[in-house]
Amino acid sequence: MSQKISQITEKINGAEETKRQFLFIEKAKEYVQTLSKELGRKPTCCVTTFGCQMNARDSEKLAGILELAGYELIEDEDADFVIYNTCTVRDNANQRVYGRLGHLNSLKKKNPHKKIALCGCMMQEPSVIEKIKKSYRFVDLIFGTHNIYKFAELLVAMFEQEGMVIDIWEDTDQIVEDLPVERKYAFKSGINIMFGCNNFCSYCIVPYVRGRERSRNPKDIIREIERLVADGVVEIMLLGQNVNSYGKNLEEPITFAQLLEEIEKIEGLERIRFMTSHPKDLSDELIQVMKKSKKICRHLHLPLQSGSTRILKEMNRRYTKEQYLELANKIRTEIPDIALTTDIIVGFPGETPEDVEETIDVINKVKYENAFTFIYSKRTGTPAAAMENQVPEDVVKIGFDKVLKTVQDTARERVALLEGKILDALVEEVNEQDASLLTGRLSNNTIVHFKGGKELIGKIVSVYLKECHGFYYLGEIVE
Ligand code: 5AD
Ligand code: SF4
Repeated sequence: MSQKISQITEKINGAEETKRQFLFIEKAKEYVQTLSKELGRKPTCCVTTFGCQMNARDSEKLAGILELAGYELIEDEDADFVIYNTCTVRDNANQRVYGRLGHLNSLKKKNPHKKIALCGCMMQEPSVIEKIKKSYRFVDLIFGTHNIYKFAELLVAMFEQEGMVIDIWEDTDQIVEDLPVERKYAFKSGINIMFGCNNFCSYCIVPYVRGRERSRNPKDIIREIERLVADGVVEIMLLGQNVNSYGKNLEEPITFAQLLEEIEKIEGLERIRFMTSHPKDLSDELIQVMKKSKKICRHLHLPLQSGSTRILKEMNRRYTKEQYLELANKIRTEIPDIALTTDIIVGFPGETPEDVEETIDVINKVKYENAFTFIYSKRTGTPAAAMENQVPEDVVKIGFDKVLKTVQDTARERVALLEGKILDALVEEVNEQDASLLTGRLSNNTIVHFKGGKELIGKIVSVYLKECHGFYYLGEIVE
């Protein structure tokens, strides 16, 4: 009973919080207008995203608020306001941020009105905040992942206070709905269905920087999708660190498969994607819902991480090599046209060349359409960082190259199976290298380039898959 009351209060507070934030947007508008008068033009802003699709979606929320406050969005860090939405899943993401901050400082010296803000996962690490306070004094605003919904309020604080504004929370149970969003694409959108992660894979920093798993209410998700569809969106990507455990902690529990069935009913919505699935939680119910669905795309991202049962245990992944292979086999048998993609880590502490061979064996058996291969990165505070048997860099490199080669060879083989077929593609953009070509995405996530005019962007067209070029196709529109 007490839990119910607190959830209801939270909901009411959530709605009140949305109202509060809109008041702060109004206040921010006044400051932006004053700045506009001083500059004699509309102030510009630039949102730079590092990391995953969750961050990309968060950046759209930041952009939505900045635009309402009166900034003009541009893709140039010369802007009057620059915000970095950071990632800390691997150390190279952190290093890139530090490197680029130096450049921002030189731009700020030329533009005294320039403001610099940092947010996202990296800011949840106390050592990062210490470093910025010490060596990057020119940063104006820092906040983390849990209070991103307070961005408008923090923006106002930045205008009103002298010096660096820092607001980092350790955790939150709040989900604030209905804040403004500025979408990057008119025809497709990401949608958060849950936040945080409870899995604590031993190498991963995400549960520490994104907090515990919280699912959004299905009604709020459906309402958001209906609005997006009314606004021209045809493809959605449901986002969560582990979508397969969606809904378990809701007041009225619902499975991810049931949520998908509800979303399928939304008229006008053409394609449904989701990311990421944890193999340990992927249910038969989900496979059956995918199999009979007309809208769920023929693509499943199923992170393997390692093919060695011993390493998987050390990683706290809670499945064995055999269980993973059985699952992949079941999915391929039930849905033969599905594309499987994965994430692989090479160089986890204690990994031997024999363990790498186990990973290669899984790649050869599953034959992924694509795989992201990462070198293990030691993240302070995670159990794996304290393990003594860290693998030397040169040994990791040998294993990494072998894994990468296997991924490329098997993927080429799999992707080539589509040659000569006619399939639907959602036209996403004009090709970056050749403006006479359009770039589209098949239901199974494979990219295809073909001739066509830009009026087709956002439309689903039939494409003849003429030539396979490794991971992508050259094709022709079929009238
Ligand atoms: N080192 C290397 N790769 C990592 N990932 C997560 N943490 C680490 C780490 N410490 C990879 C996993 C995950 C993907 C998003 O990032 O493969 O699936
Ligand atoms: Fe990290 Fe594992 Fe959670 Fe994925 S499931 S975010 S790898 S802890």
